[in-house]
Amino acid sequence: KKSQAWSALFSEPMSELVKRYTASVFFDKRLWQADIQGSLAHAEMLATQNIIGASDLADIQRGMAQITQEIETGAFEWKLDLEDVHLNIEARLTQLVGDAGKRLHTGRSRNDQVATDVRLWLRSEMDLIIDLLADLQKSLVDVAEQNVDVILPGFTHLQVAQPVSFAHHLLAYVEMFSRDAERMVDVRRRTNRLPLGSAALAGTTYPLDRERVARTLGMVDEAGNPQVCQNSLDGVSDRDFAIEFTAAASLCMVHISRFSEELILWMSQNFGFVRIADRFTTGSSIMPQKKNPDVPELARGKTGRVVGHLMGLITLMKGQPLAYNKDNQEDKEPLFDTVDTLKDTLRIFSEMVGGQVNPATGQKEGGITVNAAAMEAAVKKGYATATDLADYLVKKGLPFRDAHEVVAHAVKTAQGLGVDLSELPLETLQKFDSRIEADVFGPLSLQGSLNARNTLGGTAPAQVRLQIARHRVRLG
Ligand code: ARG
Repeated sequence: KKSQAWSALFSEPMSELVKRYTASVFFDKRLWQADIQGSLAHAEMLATQNIIGASDLADIQRGMAQITQEIETGAFEWKLDLEDVHLNIEARLTQLVGDAGKRLHTGRSRNDQVATDVRLWLRSEMDLIIDLLADLQKSLVDVAEQNVDVILPGFTHLQVAQPVSFAHHLLAYVEMFSRDAERMVDVRRRTNRLPLGSAALAGTTYPLDRERVARTLGMVDEAGNPQVCQNSLDGVSDRDFAIEFTAAASLCMVHISRFSEELILWMSQNFGFVRIADRFTTGSSIMPQKKNPDVPELARGKTGRVVGHLMGLITLMKGQPLAYNKDNQEDKEPLFDTVDTLKDTLRIFSEMVGGQVNPATGQKEGGITVNAAAMEAAVKKGYATATDLADYLVKKGLPFRDAHEVVAHAVKTAQGLGVDLSELPLETLQKFDSRIEADVFGPLSLQGSLNARNTLGGTAPAQVRLQIARHRVRLG
C-alpha cells in the first residue's frame, strides 16, 4: 500500500522506529501557514503558465481554504506516517480535491518547498522581533528619561571608576538593542529570497515564472524587484539565513544577559540600586526573607541555550555536500526554539523595565524602581572623582602624568582618613599641590564631574538629553 512505502520501488515498509526517527511533522507543523502560502503562490503561477488548468487552481484554492480552517480549529489530523508538514497538507489536499491536489507538486520538490517555508516563516517572526526590540528600547528610554540626574558608579573591572548618569548607563543598552534590530533588518533582506523553482536541486523542465511567485510572496527588495535564489543547488541547500539569524539572536541574548547580570548585582543587598516588580521575582521555599531575581537569571541562562543553537546550526552545515541533505531537517528545532526564547525574553524585559500600561490611567506602571540614594552612596565610596581632580590640575598647568601622581597621594591620604576627596579640607588638598584653590570642589562633586563630560557620547546630562531626543525620533 502506498501509505506504507514511497512507491512501487520499495519492497518493505519503514520500521516504526525509523518512521519516528525521520518524521518531523510534530515540530514542523508550525510551518503550516507558510506552506499553504507557498503552495498557493506556486499553484497560481502554474495556472498562469498553463502548466495546470484554471479549474485545478480553483480546486487547490478551495481545498487549501478548507485545510486552513481545519488546522485553525484543531480538526486537522496530523499523521506521523506522512512524515512532515508538507506531505500531510498535500495528502489532505488530494483527499479533498482529487487530481488537482496531485498536480500541485508539478515542478516542485520538498527541497525547495521547505526552504521557502522556513524563509517565509522566519521573515514574519523577524518582523515581530524587530518590533519587540523597538518596544524594549522605548522602555529603556522611558526609564532613562526619568533618571538623567541620578548618578551611579560607573565601573571598570567592577571597581568604582567614574560617576555616570543612570540614564547614560541604560542608553548604552539602547545602543546595543538598536544594533540588534539593524542586524535583524539586514538578515531579513537575505532571508527574503525565493528558493522555489530550484526543484529538487537542478531546476525544472516546466516553464516556471519564479519572479512572479517571488512577487506574490512579497519576496521583493526595497525597490519592489523580485528576489529569487539564482542557483538551484544553492537555493535548496542554503541555510545561511537561519545561521545568521541565530547569530544575531545570540548577540541580542548576550546583550540581555549582560543587562541581567547587572540587574542581579544591582538588586543584591550589597548594592540595593534597583528593585523589579514582585511578579518578576520568586521567593524561597526555606528562607522567608528571599525575593530572587529569577527572570534575569533565567534570561542569562537561556542565553547559553540560544548560543548553543547557533553552534548546533553552524555545525549542522559544515560537512554537507551539495545539494539538499536530510541533515537540514535538523535546522528546525534550534531555529524555532531560538525564536521562541528571544521573543519571550524581549517581551518580558520590556515589561520588567518599563512596566505595564494601567488601563485606568493610560500610564505605564510597575517598571524598574531606582534607589538614587544607594547609587550615590556607592559612588562616594570609590574616589570616583579622582580623575576630575587630575584634570583640574592639568587645566592649571600640571602635565597629566604628574597630576595623576599628585592625586594618587591625595587618595591615599583620604583613604587613611576614611573620607572622600571632596571631604578633605582645602588646606589639606593644597599640601598636595599649591595650585589647588577653592574652585576645586566643583569638579570634585558628582554633579560637577558629570557635567564636565559634555562631549558627544559623554555622560553629561545635557548630552544624555540629546541622546534621549535622538532615540525618541528614531523609535517614533
Ligand atoms: N522535512 C524535510 C526537511 O525539513 C523536508 C524536505 C525533505 N526532502 C527530502 N528530499 N527528503 O528538510
